[in-house]
Amino acid sequence: MSHLLWGNADCVELAHRFGTPLYVMDESLIRARCWEIRSAFLEKWPRTAACYASKAFLTKTMARIICQEGLGLDVVSSGELHTALSAGFPPSRIELHGNAKSEEELRRAISAGVGRIVADSVMELEILAALAAQEGRRVPISIRVAPGVTPRTHAHIVTGHRGSKFGLPIEDEFLTPAVKFALASPYLDLKGFHFHIGSQIFENSFHVETVRRAAALLENLKTRLGFEAEELNLGGGFGVGKLPDVPAPGEFEEPREPHVPLGLFTDAMMESLTEECARRHLTRPSVVIEPGRWVVAEAGITLYSVETVKRLPGVIYAGVDGGMPDNPRPALYQAVYEGVLANKIDALPAEKVTIAGKCCETGDILIESIALPPVERGDIVAVFNTGAYNFSMASNYNRLPRPAVVLVKDGIPDVIVARQTYDDLLRGDTIPARMTRT
Ligand SMILES: Cc1ncc(COP(=O)(O)O)c(C=O)c1O
Repeated sequence: MSHLLWGNADCVELAHRFGTPLYVMDESLIRARCWEIRSAFLEKWPRTAACYASKAFLTKTMARIICQEGLGLDVVSSGELHTALSAGFPPSRIELHGNAKSEEELRRAISAGVGRIVADSVMELEILAALAAQEGRRVPISIRVAPGVTPRTHAHIVTGHRGSKFGLPIEDEFLTPAVKFALASPYLDLKGFHFHIGSQIFENSFHVETVRRAAALLENLKTRLGFEAEELNLGGGFGVGKLPDVPAPGEFEEPREPHVPLGLFTDAMMESLTEECARRHLTRPSVVIEPGRWVVAEAGITLYSVETVKRLPGVIYAGVDGGMPDNPRPALYQAVYEGVLANKIDALPAEKVTIAGKCCETGDILIESIALPPVERGDIVAVFNTGAYNFSMASNYNRLPRPAVVLVKDGIPDVIVARQTYDDLLRGDTIPARMTRT
């Protein structure tokens, strides 16, 4: 029987050597996506930058790869910032996001000297100005704006709609006070505006509509306040995979291409922005994008061992040794995954199998009904497209230790995150002294 190769490494050998569940990332695929960002966007359009949205997948090694590839990094917490700085990532290429940043996070970002803080509210601007004054620094910022665009994707990952918890609504009554405050503060250096309308988006029309609204905003602020923004950050959200996460099947046409080229989005956005700026007599601002999922999702697979097979009328369950703690996305977003038996890659599909996770939740189903060769205990299931928002969203539910992460390059695997041990689960877990007597 042939085995699945990932990054030229034999997945069955990886599973036996490092144990399962196991996240496996193909370094060449991550670097290929970075190359596409450079060739299709950065080198094609002057005055552009790309920050990888690290929430999709961040380890010190990943930060190092992004640094070597010449991209910036979007972080959303002190934990992500700490990881990036520990890997030696240059702070000037880091931007800090978040709708509820703590004072500690803002202070840490200011003293680290991050390149951009994306302010989310007037209250945050006030706190930021006060902290910057204490530090005696002028902080480069942008303001996050919710443009009122609702892309077609799962409701839980729409972010730029009317009433969003992220950013300020684009209407004058909300945005003008924020812009005036920032411009009046000697400690805030307002560079421009940030838009991120959602995630797992497959059509470019929503990003283009965002560009139109952003250009109208820039013209409005130039006319009314004499403020010309230097920078527009248009966020990420570029979709990945054959099957999108959709709220209701049938509402949405499946993309035909397994890999969605970045240019599908960025060309349309940049052409529209160039036209809009010319029409409105604006100098085209520099443009930043923040792809997360698009960079890493397809580079990752997760390997599981089949523990049990249960053949019931109408359904065959293959129970595996992981599940919602290492991949909560099927339960959270009804995300659809595909998989194979890595140890029987050339065997013909013979039955429909449901890959069930091991947690005490009926909803812990990784893949519903996929065609597989006859499945047996000990088979290795490989689930594709798990590089984004799997490791980063993992939990210890049911006290399951988190899997290791292996990075593969030219067939050579390196463990970049060790598997958690049972003792790791007990770290910080203490019994009060009053209960120490048995
Ligand atoms: C501000 C911001 N930028 C970029 C991203 C990355 O989105 P994606 O992984 O869909 O590209 C996110 C995701 O939540 C985000 O909140």
